[in-house]
Amino acid sequence: MSGFSESWLGLREPADLRARDAALAARAAAFVQAKEGGDPARIVDLGCGTGSTLQALHGQVPGADWLLVDNDAELLSAAVRRAETLGAQARALETDLTELAAIPFDGVRLVTASALFDLAAGDFVDALVQRLSTAGAGLYAALNYDGSKEFEPSHPLDGVVMAAFNRHQVQAKGLGGGRALGPAAVSHLTRSFEARGYTVEIAESPWRLGPAETALASAHIAGMADAVAELDVLDRAELEGWRQARLTMAAATTTIVGHLDLLARPG
Ligand SMILES: C[S@@+](CC[C@H](N)C(=O)[O-])C[C@H]1O[C@@H](n2cnc3c(N)ncnc32)[C@H](O)[C@@H]1O
Repeated sequence: MSGFSESWLGLREPADLRARDAALAARAAAFVQAKEGGDPARIVDLGCGTGSTLQALHGQVPGADWLLVDNDAELLSAAVRRAETLGAQARALETDLTELAAIPFDGVRLVTASALFDLAAGDFVDALVQRLSTAGAGLYAALNYDGSKEFEPSHPLDGVVMAAFNRHQVQAKGLGGGRALGPAAVSHLTRSFEARGYTVEIAESPWRLGPAETALASAHIAGMADAVAELDVLDRAELEGWRQARLTMAAATTTIVGHLDLLARPG
């Protein structure tokens, strides 16, 4: 178990699918399809969870050969099961992503990831970019949290809770040494790829949660409050007051959570 439950990933997947920038996803797919030679284009999906990126891209990259990588065996099995249901060609590799040497990148056309790089430390990103550059592979990394959240109507404590939550985001998450990049993930990826001659494109992919997504909005509020409680920087009663008020208002609140999608192509 990685701490990312199948039920949480299932709850967020429809919002993620709607949020992905369609034009950037289409350019990522076109890059895959432009591969020359007879073999199927190979795609490696890092931190696949239950395979949300395969679900999002499969229709645009028919015939691609997917390798799904995660350190959570249960999520990996679910990802492969769902890929087979779609008719996609997919295999699983259970490994920690920091064991980059265990992941075969040679001959890979595109590496994909979603909701992953905000968990990563800078040294992991740089080592990965170096591997991709050596292999000549591109990267499509969707749904990287950018540090922004808006609630309408607002609550007086939204600002302090969000600031504390963003501090929690940069605590070490075990994906590389030291602190996670959190909202700085996309700028770090961009610098690292551009230093190796890649062309990088970025597009916004915010969640826009309204009354139809109350279950996800409520789980998101609970997740924020739990993360902030771990830091012990806010008065407990105030934080619980914020949590309860936000949960009570959830069905009548519009929530925007900022994300960025990135496509990096070599040359
Ligand atoms: C937020 S989830 C995103 C899952 C999926 N990409 C999606 O968009 O639904 C992060 C995923 O990264 C995986 N992960 C996190 N750290 C990892 C590590 N060090 N090695 C392998 N997988 C890791 C988790 O198991 C989880 O499946």
